[in-house]
Amino acid sequence: MSNNSASKRKDAHLDLARKTLAETRDSTRPLDEIELPYCALPELNLDEIDITARFLSHQLSVPLLITGMTGGTARADKLNAALVEVACQHQIAVGLGSQRASLESGQSQKNLRKNNPKACLIGNLGAVQIVGDTGFALAQRAADDFEADALAIHLNPLQEAIQPEGDHGWQGVEAAIMRLVDKLGCPILVKEVGAGLSAPVVRRLHAAGVRHIDVAARGGTNWALIEWLRQNPDKQALYSPFLSMGIDLPNAVQGARQAAPDITIIASGGVQNGLDIAKTLFLGADMGGMAGEMLQALEDEARTLHPSRLSEKIEQVQTQLRLACFLTGSKSVRDLQKLPIL
Ligand SMILES: Cc1cc2nc3c(=O)[nH]c(=O)nc-3n(C[C@H](O)[C@H](O)[C@H](O)COP(=O)(O)O)c2cc1C
Repeated sequence: MSNNSASKRKDAHLDLARKTLAETRDSTRPLDEIELPYCALPELNLDEIDITARFLSHQLSVPLLITGMTGGTARADKLNAALVEVACQHQIAVGLGSQRASLESGQSQKNLRKNNPKACLIGNLGAVQIVGDTGFALAQRAADDFEADALAIHLNPLQEAIQPEGDHGWQGVEAAIMRLVDKLGCPILVKEVGAGLSAPVVRRLHAAGVRHIDVAARGGTNWALIEWLRQNPDKQALYSPFLSMGIDLPNAVQGARQAAPDITIIASGGVQNGLDIAKTLFLGADMGGMAGEMLQALEDEARTLHPSRLSEKIEQVQTQLRLACFLTGSKSVRDLQKLPIL
């Protein structure tokens, strides 16, 4: 496929992700059913609550990762530059979207590291791209390009199956992940993109040596829907039954924690605010992840970027998480993980 059609696809993805999320944002989510145990006797000072967290050798102001979105086009590069700069200013972690397009066209994103030397910065490749010796070499280049703190590998078979240009050959991915964990010399984070990692998959990843996962569950950005909207009417009828396939966020987090008690779990897939993150920590996650909501904050419909809106969104999440700790009698975010599930 030409670079031009790949760029058009990435632009369409960004616009459809923003549009579909705006349309579904007010519908009820399984996370809304989760109630934190309210404590009317906190014996704490709200302003002294510790919401910091450690992640990949970085001290973060809050356990939050802006998960990877896009890459490889001029628009994506501007978006990523703004995301990384604001994330670094606020001491939160940030991932890039797939680096495949930029690496294959000989571009480097090393300026992201040069301009933000202290950023907690995660690289990204699709699972099908890491298979075999060429895949391993690509992953090495992806991790080295901007001295990534970790390399994320995304598992997105539902999206690829519905995408008109999608990859259908998924053999050898598990072995390739195991090889990266063994030989890459950079932590590997395995993630979905919005349909969720199930407990059996987490168990297999854990057995392969993976110690960081992002469940990227159903309930937020819906890639099946985004690709469905790009299909012709015949194909839409064919794929309709699959639009709601996946694992929702509470089930994904609880299943992952049971499957792999010692793994770092990032909870994403429809996380909208700091209270949502508190709920996921309560269910067993270590951090929250947000993509679509951050895109909404940063970019408007005219594709103009507003870094100040993204800053405000992050500050709001920090305040909400602090409040959630206070109102459950938790003196730190770690204490949220110890609250009894009634
Ligand atoms: C516009 C857009 C592009 C994305 N591109 C990638 C990608 O290249 N690689 C990846 O691992 N995930 C990608 N994702 C998935 C997100 O990292 C995240 O897993 C997913 O959107 C669920 O989180 P959310 O509900 O907060 O959006 C993308 C998401 C969005 C919104």
